[in-house]
Parts: sequence; C-alpha cells; structure tokens
Amino acid sequence: MQTMVKKIVLSYSGGLDTSVILKWLQETYQCEIIAFTADLGQGEELDQVRSKAEMLGVTDIRILDLREEFVRDFVFPMFRANTVYEGHYLLGSSIARPLIAKYLVQIAQEVGADAISHGATGKGNDQLRFELAANALDPAIKVIAPWRQWDIRSRTELVAYAERHQIPVPKDKRGDAPFSIDANLLHTSTEGKVLEDAGEAASAYVYQRTVDPVDAPDLPEVVTIGFEKGDAVSVNGTQLGPMELLIELNGLGSKHGIGRLDLVENRFVGVKSRGIYETPGGTILLAAHRGMESITLDRAAAHLKDEIMPRYAELIYNGFWYSPEREMLQALIDQSQNYVSGEVTLKLYKGAANVISRSSSNSLYSAELVTFEDDFGAYDQRDADGFIKLNGLRLKNWSARNNRVPA
Ligand code: ARG
Repeated sequence: MQTMVKKIVLSYSGGLDTSVILKWLQETYQCEIIAFTADLGQGEELDQVRSKAEMLGVTDIRILDLREEFVRDFVFPMFRANTVYEGHYLLGSSIARPLIAKYLVQIAQEVGADAISHGATGKGNDQLRFELAANALDPAIKVIAPWRQWDIRSRTELVAYAERHQIPVPKDKRGDAPFSIDANLLHTSTEGKVLEDAGEAASAYVYQRTVDPVDAPDLPEVVTIGFEKGDAVSVNGTQLGPMELLIELNGLGSKHGIGRLDLVENRFVGVKSRGIYETPGGTILLAAHRGMESITLDRAAAHLKDEIMPRYAELIYNGFWYSPEREMLQALIDQSQNYVSGEVTLKLYKGAANVISRSSSNSLYSAELVTFEDDFGAYDQRDADGFIKLNGLRLKNWSARNNRVPA
C-alpha cells in the first residue's frame, strides 16, 4: 500500500527513464503530476520535452532556463573555494542537484503539491543530493524515489513497461544504453555499463565535448581572465555575465582538449565508481582562480582555505549544500575573496591550461621583498639567522634523543 499523496512534482528530463517514472507515478498514486525540467545547459532539445510530457497526459509542464542562476549562485560560489572532490572531480553533477531540488520544492509549494519525485537510482549520490536538499528546504515535503520502490530491475523490464504503456522507445534505447550521461554547463559525466571495468581504458567515443588533446591545435592560445572579488567577470577584456563567461571558457577548453578526467571515486553510499568527466571551462577557471589568489591572498588565509576545501567539497558531494556547516564554510570562503581581483593570463595547449602571468592592484606580491638583487632594507637577511635557529631548536633536541635511545 502506497502512502496517499495528492499532487507530485517530478524532475522530468523527457528521456525514457523519467517517462516511465511519470507513467508509474500516475498509475501508482492516481494523482496529478507536474513535470519540471531545468535547463542547465545540458544541450538537449527541450521543446521535445513538452510534447513528450503532454503525450503522457501532463497539463502542467514547466521548463525553466536556470543556466544563469546555476553558474552565478552555485558554480561560482563553489569555485571561490577551488573545490575538487578526492583531488580531481570538479563536482559538475553534485552542484546541479541542489538547484533542481530548490525548484522542485518551490513549484510544489506554488501548486500545493505534497510530494516531489526524481529519477535517481538507489545506488548513487544524486538521490541524497535531491532528498537532503528537499528536507532542508521544506521539512514537510514527501519524496518519492521510484527506483527504490518499484519492481523494475533492468533495462529490459523498463523497456517492456514503456511498451505496455505506449511510451515510445527510441531505437538506441532498446538495447542497453552504453553508459549513463549527466550534462550541464559545467560538465559532462559518463559512467556505468561499458565503463564499469576500471581496469579497461575508456574508448574515444565516450568523450563528447572535448577534442582529444592529441588532435587539439598545434599552436597554443593565450587567454586573459579578469576577476572581481573571487568571481570571473571578463575574458580577453570583454565583460561577461557568469553564464556567458562559462560558455566562452567551455568553447576554449573543448577546442584545446582541456578538462578530461578518468576517475575512480568513493560514492557517499559506500561503493567505488568509475566515471569519465569533461569539465573544459571549469578546468580553465580553476587554474585561473588559483593564479589570482596566488598574488592576492595572504599565506595563512590561502592555507586555511586549502585545509577546509576537501571538507567543503565532501559536503557538496554528499548532498549537504543546504546545511548549516556549508553555509558557515561559505561565509569564510566568501570573506576571503574580498581582494581577489585582477587579471590572470593562461596558455591553453593540448589539454593543459597553465597560468603564465597575473596582476592585481591588490597584489601582495612584492618584487622588492623577494628580489635577489639589491636590498632596500625591507628584508634584512640577518633576521633569518634567529628564525632558523629557533625553528631548528626542537629538531636538534629530537635528533639528539633519537641517537641516544635505540629505536
Ligand atoms: N558520480 C558523479 C557524482 O556523483 C556523477 C553522477 C551522475 N552521472 C551520471 N552519468 N549519471 O557526482
């Protein structure tokens, strides 16, 4: 027996899986379903989404362009921390989920729905991101996760269900899809199926939005990115809003084969998974932001940021974007960015984005202090004497003890 619900807002992509979910929700709960599709720059034809939902009897269909909000309020704040999960992953899927959840909840409140639903499976991270966000945003909202409830256990059963209910099954979906894809303005993630053997190199066709660095232009391209308080605001002197800017960097990155990643990561649910990521613009942005901070942040401030970063990344990965601890860390990170303004120039070449120069009117970099040439009295080399002596004191003590006492 299912719990009673009167209206459900479904995160609907127009694909086979969420179409089956839509039908299943209608059958199981006998209530109105509102279909919500977020345009996050996934690059699919969203006009087809509407007709597919209509065909399934949905009258309230909402397709919202959230690209600007996605980059401005989610991607950019995350990039202020130079966020990477387990050393490499730029969290392209993780950071999109709280935004989708925010709108699922908002629409539910608007139409008086008591439940939301999503197509994430019971084995992944995304279910946590959707549901923890929903819990934090509206404690009363119910969440329906069909993949954890129904008896459909395989692709074949899914296709059979679709056929029984006159849901058109695209030819290429009849067999097993070769892998699962999640795309938005920040990244494209590919995992599962043919990629599950972590001991096998991925085939070239897995990569969808970057050229192979081998085939990238033989001439490097130089790009200058301007920053204001930690956020990128211009490319080669042209002021751009967050979305436009990321689109511009994506273009440059994909052309030069930048931002490819083949990673085995630890999911929050306890399994390791192998995925291929392409984050062209984000990879350039990360390098540029680090370059900007290198001259504008004090050492201790920079090191503190680097210490909390893995923790902050883990929060986002695990689905705790809306949580007191994430907000606390965000306040710290945001404050650190007050002077992170200026320009960084990078060279893009065959898969690499390397900083080649940086400048800022807030720079802490002092050629006068660091120079090997004439001293101007700002740094007295003799001061280093005592500094080293006191730092070495405990090391001498430790070494003497070790030589005395057999290990
Ligand atoms: N493993 C990534 C994460 O948890 C991506 C998840 C979604 N990707 C996909 N291809 N279904 O953030």
